[in-house]
Amino acid sequence: MSITVLGIESSCDDTSAAVIRDGVLLSNVIASQDVHAEYGGVVPELASRAHQQNIVPVVDTALKRAGIDRHDLTAIAFTRGPGLLGSLHVGTSFAKGLSLGLRVPIVDVNHLHGHVLSHFIRREENDPVPEYPFLCLLVSGGNSQIILVRNYNDMEILGRTIDDAAGEAFDKCAKVMGLPYPGGPHIDRLAAEGDASRFKFAKPHIPGFDYSFSGLKTSFLYTLRDNLKLDPEFIEKNRADLAASLQKTIIDILMDKLDKAVRQTGVRTVAIGGGVSANSGVRDAVEQYCARRGLTAFIPPRVFTTDNAAMVAIAGYYKYLDRDFCRYDSVPYARTTI
Ligand code: KG4
Repeated sequence: MSITVLGIESSCDDTSAAVIRDGVLLSNVIASQDVHAEYGGVVPELASRAHQQNIVPVVDTALKRAGIDRHDLTAIAFTRGPGLLGSLHVGTSFAKGLSLGLRVPIVDVNHLHGHVLSHFIRREENDPVPEYPFLCLLVSGGNSQIILVRNYNDMEILGRTIDDAAGEAFDKCAKVMGLPYPGGPHIDRLAAEGDASRFKFAKPHIPGFDYSFSGLKTSFLYTLRDNLKLDPEFIEKNRADLAASLQKTIIDILMDKLDKAVRQTGVRTVAIGGGVSANSGVRDAVEQYCARRGLTAFIPPRVFTTDNAAMVAIAGYYKYLDRDFCRYDSVPYARTTI
């Protein structure tokens, strides 16, 4: 009998629902929230309310696009954390209610596991998936980690950021350049037209596999100021070169530790995930690095780099196969690691 899992994601500012049958994606619907744009960041209270508005139509659309009825569902997977608590409560409560109504089990998913496991979402039956063990560079607005993935439920963080995440470095530097939030995609776009060798920014010297991006942020800020004030004319004239140089520095920092992890573990497969893995420069760098060293690279389709329920559904699918269900008295968690 086939196994049909509904995934629900509501950890931050995207309400998403997806259906996966026997590991193959049938639908993935994402409602992004525009309400935050004018605030320059996600406002938790507004996010929770928007999830409340979106969740029923988003799930409904996901079921329709999958061509199934809700009674065809075998299990419901939902993001339990980490994320914004108010937002997580919406998805968690909805999943519990639907599961009780349909008499199918619920499966809780760690959002970070979801990002790592997004490489197992197959759009066609024969799509390739990574073999264990593999290394995953997880880079998002909140995380920069190198993870050794031994199995779907056995992941070890080899390195993590000790201050800002890579996405924060993109977003905060973009903000001082006057670019809209989130700045990562704007830097990506501008960088394509700029000279990456024009500016030199600080690179960290941290032992092991850990990352640091706060020094880069400070040195970027210092480049943009004139007599302790930001210099708008300078920024305007050098936008593309600043973006290209910033992006190159972030990529160099990411690749330096990734290379170290590859050498030390001897692992032959490298994957990337999280919002920053949508960055053209990061994608090219990982692909070229793997090609040079004869490694297998897994670069996710862009739709699976940011928050989506397809990754929740696939993570839930594997837990379901292990009968690893969630209790009804489980509550969301704001913070956790892998
Ligand atoms: O995984 P994600 O959607 O959620 C959070 O963890 O917040 O990642 C969002 C991050 C933001 O920092 C955003 O600027 C960054 O991913 N991002 C990018 C690109 N697309 C999204 N950064 C650089 N280049 C991009 N193309």
